[in-house]
Amino acid sequence: LVLGVLVSGSGTNLQAVIDAVKAGSLNAKIAVVVSNIATAKGLDRAAAAGIPTVVLDHKAYANRAAFDAAVVEVLRERGVSCVVLAGFMRIVTSTLLDAFPHRVVNIHPSLLPAFPGVDAQAQAFAYGVRVTGCTVHLVDSGTDTGPILAQATVPVLEGDDVAALRARILQKEHELLPAVLQWIAEGRLEVVSGEAGTRPRVRIL
Ligand code: GRF
Repeated sequence: LVLGVLVSGSGTNLQAVIDAVKAGSLNAKIAVVVSNIATAKGLDRAAAAGIPTVVLDHKAYANRAAFDAAVVEVLRERGVSCVVLAGFMRIVTSTLLDAFPHRVVNIHPSLLPAFPGVDAQAQAFAYGVRVTGCTVHLVDSGTDTGPILAQATVPVLEGDDVAALRARILQKEHELLPAVLQWIAEGRLEVVSGEAGTRPRVRIL
């Protein structure tokens, strides 16, 4: 499995993927890390691991599709077969999705469909749920709406604040994302289109 990882920030999920590859629990190669933010710490993590990095400033492109076309070009050049959004804070368009059908994966810090969008941990905390978690899913044209691959639960504990909850969820993310990528590496993913009017689902073989 040849991965292209897209990041905008600290890149701790990227780090978890790097570590899993190094440890041999994820049979993949990270061919390139792309960021829309030149100062993203994720780029330093990639460089430290000897992974090529590319910065594409979204502000330099006329629209989302033009930016995505540039991203696709970089990913194709590097032979990427699966794209991982690991804290990539841009909405992606059909330009990216059509280039990698069923092979764009996102990690989201809630149990979808609860709390989509930004600051899912703060949304969950504010709502007062007792259990939240994280979701790894295939990306479709909606925001955090694609077929779910895996979820892990995380309790909200007495005395938590948003920061503590965020950290507890992040730990789970770091386990779940490399595990799901390994399923993909093993070819165990099957997207099942349900009956008319139902959502496509994923079967793990
Ligand atoms: C994670 O919480 C991820 O679920 C969300 O953005 C955050 C990225 O964190 N999409 P990091 O950059 O991997 O540390």
